[in-house]
Order: sequence, then structure tokens, then C-alpha cells
Amino acid sequence: MLIFVAIELSTMVANLQEHFSDSAHNMKSSAIRELLKVSQQPEIISFAGGLPAPDLFPVGILKKLAMEALETDSALALQYGPTEGDKRLREIIVERYRREGVAAEVKNVIITTASQQCIDIVAKLFLNPGDTVVCELPSYLAALQSFASYRANMVGVRHKRDLDNVVGKLVAEGRKPKFIYVIPDFQNPSGATLSLDERKMVLDVARRHDVLVVEDTPYRELRFEGETLPALCQLDGTGQVITLGTFSKIFVPGFRLGWLLAHEDIITKAIVAKQAMDLCSPVFDQKITARFFDQNYFEENLKKIIAAYREKRDGMLAAFEKYMPEGVTWTRPQGGLFLFLTLPEALDAKDLFDLAIKENVAFVLGEAFHCDGSGKNTLRINFSYMSSALNEEGVKRLAKAIRQLMGNATN
Ligand SMILES: Cc1ncc(COP(=O)(O)O)c(C=O)c1O
Repeated sequence: MLIFVAIELSTMVANLQEHFSDSAHNMKSSAIRELLKVSQQPEIISFAGGLPAPDLFPVGILKKLAMEALETDSALALQYGPTEGDKRLREIIVERYRREGVAAEVKNVIITTASQQCIDIVAKLFLNPGDTVVCELPSYLAALQSFASYRANMVGVRHKRDLDNVVGKLVAEGRKPKFIYVIPDFQNPSGATLSLDERKMVLDVARRHDVLVVEDTPYRELRFEGETLPALCQLDGTGQVITLGTFSKIFVPGFRLGWLLAHEDIITKAIVAKQAMDLCSPVFDQKITARFFDQNYFEENLKKIIAAYREKRDGMLAAFEKYMPEGVTWTRPQGGLFLFLTLPEALDAKDLFDLAIKENVAFVLGEAFHCDGSGKNTLRINFSYMSSALNEEGVKRLAKAIRQLMGNATN
């Protein structure tokens, strides 16, 4: 019987391409996913993924909270839940925003299956084929992919000072962007943070041209130093900002929980869009997460995560100073999970990748994050996942591979 099914499927494959929708044809496999396959070999020191450190997962507390939820709340915790999410968890998110001066209410928040789903919901709600999205250069690859799957055109802005001109020109050409997509804090991939002036400027441009702003904030609370800057939703008074949040980097990614904070009318539509995607986000996970906050574990746990990543960031920067050859530059992120390396202009990170793999160290090509195909001489480096010792060893190996590449280029 099984063999029969296998034959049936394989006879279809010949014409399969004709069956896919235009959107499916537009979906491209991520360069990162392909490279991650290589980088997952056990002997490789991988700076490639964007994974939190597993030793920071609060396993003991989660065991206790899971038991509590099962013993006292199983009828709800194991049942389907409301599409908009667990009421207590929504309240917790709202309370946190209100403490920051955002006049949010529960009706402004929907719980999502982490922020990747927020991105997909936003794309679904606002993008028609051929629409324009303005994004940063570089920007988060999986967001660019999601927008592309809805057949939007991305226009990248390298320097924030150019934003007004870029948006103004698009408006004049009849290609007014549907939204500006920004990651204001410790950006993926660059590690860069928007200054207060830049934040105000993004909002000012958006207001003047009547464009929405989508701010993606997964790393916002992972600040190692310096003053916390207001989120765009804190500075906004118009309801033009849609904020995406996630528990992935500040708690655990495996629960797949995040949230979307926006104008009530957007949330109403988002609930309908989400219904068709997954009916509701994992209910058991939401119950445990709400307990994690209500029993005051969150802040303490976040402090531990920040301290651990700060130490790793410091170690990584020291290793770069020690080992990297002249001509290589890198960002110094004040938080988050990534820093971004730039090779001399003439070098291509693709050529480096093979040399690096031979040295058993992996990274992600910066080019993948550039919607205009630029950034060929850039690399994204993650510092959260590996131990500090392996981070240093990895930088040493990477520097060796870069020296080889530089040598090859001059020979
Ligand atoms: C900028 C940005 N947005 C969204 C996501 C998606 O994360 P999650 O779906 O786990 O919330 C990531 C993940 O790395 C990210 O870097």
C-alpha cells in the first residue's frame, strides 16, 4: 500500500511546477537555511544561527510551572484557546507597555506564534502584489522573504538620513510604500541601534507621507549598556506604528510566542488573518508564560540572559581586536545577539565561507540580508549560542580564513 502511494506521488512530480501558485513560485529557499545545514555539523563552531544559549533556558522553573498548569488548569491549558490569545498574557504585555508610557489596552494586543507570524500577518494585511516596502539595508532576511512571498518590492535605505528622499521619490512615482519596516534596537543582522533622532525622523517621514511603520523589536530588552531608547510606539501619537514583539530572545524560543501591538482596527483584522493560519497560538505555552511573569521570574531571568550575552559580546569584541587582520571592520552592538563584519571592498564573503568551513567555523553571508544584492563583503556573526571559549576559538579560525582570502586576493 505504501509503495502504491509513493508511485502515485512521484508520477505527479513531473508537472508539479505548473500547480504552484504565483506566490509559491515567488518563495525562495533561504541562503541561511542552506548554509545552516553545513554549519550544524558537530565539529563546526557556528556563528551562523541566531539561537539563544540553551543553558539560559529556565528549565527547573518551567517544570514547576508546567506541573502547576496541568494540576490546576488543565481543562483550559490543554484546550483550544481564543485566537487573540490568553487574556492574562495579553494583560501582562499591556501592563509592560503602559509602564513605558504607551496608552495600550488589551484590545491593542494579539498573541501570535512568535514574531515571525506577526511579520506574515502584517504582510497579509497590507501587501498587494507589486506594492512597495521600505526596509533597512541590511535587514532581517526572513521578513524580506515573507514580503517577497506576497510579491512586494523591497526598497532598501542604507542611511536613515536618506529615508525622506527615498520615500518622497517613491510617492512622487506613484509607488507610495505600504510601510517602512525597521528593527530599531540591536538590529538583525547589523547589531545597530537607531538613535533617538533617527527614531523621531522615521516617524516624521512616515507621518508626512502617510505611511505606516512596522517596528520589529525582538532584541529591544537585551541591552548590555547605555540608556534604553523609546520604542517607536512610545514616540508615536498617531496609531501609525505597528509593533512586533516576541518572547523568543527574552524567555524561550521553543514556546513560539510573540505579540502584535497596534491600532484596534488592525488587531481586529489580524485576528481574522490569524484564524486562518493556526486558530490560536500554543495555549499551554501561553499559560506557562503568564505564570512565569505572575510569579515574578521574568525580570530575574532576563537579567541573567543580559549578563551572559554581555560577557559573550565583550569576549567576542576582544577576540576580534586580537585576531582580525587590518582592513576588517566590525560593529560594536550595545545589545542583542549579532555583530556585523565588513571585509575590504574587493573581497567576497562567499569565497570566505568555503575557507572558513575548512577551518570548521561558520557564519552567515551578509549579502543575504541586502534586498538590493549589495553587501557581498559582509558577514553576520552570532555571539549568543556558543560558549565564550568557542567564540574566541571561532574568531581565531575565522581570522585565519580571512588572512588566507586576503592572501589569495593579492597573489
Ligand atoms: C528581526 C527579527 N524579527 C523576527 C524574528 C523571528 O523570531 P521569532 O519568530 O522567534 O519571534 C527574528 C528572529 O531571529 C528576528 O531577528
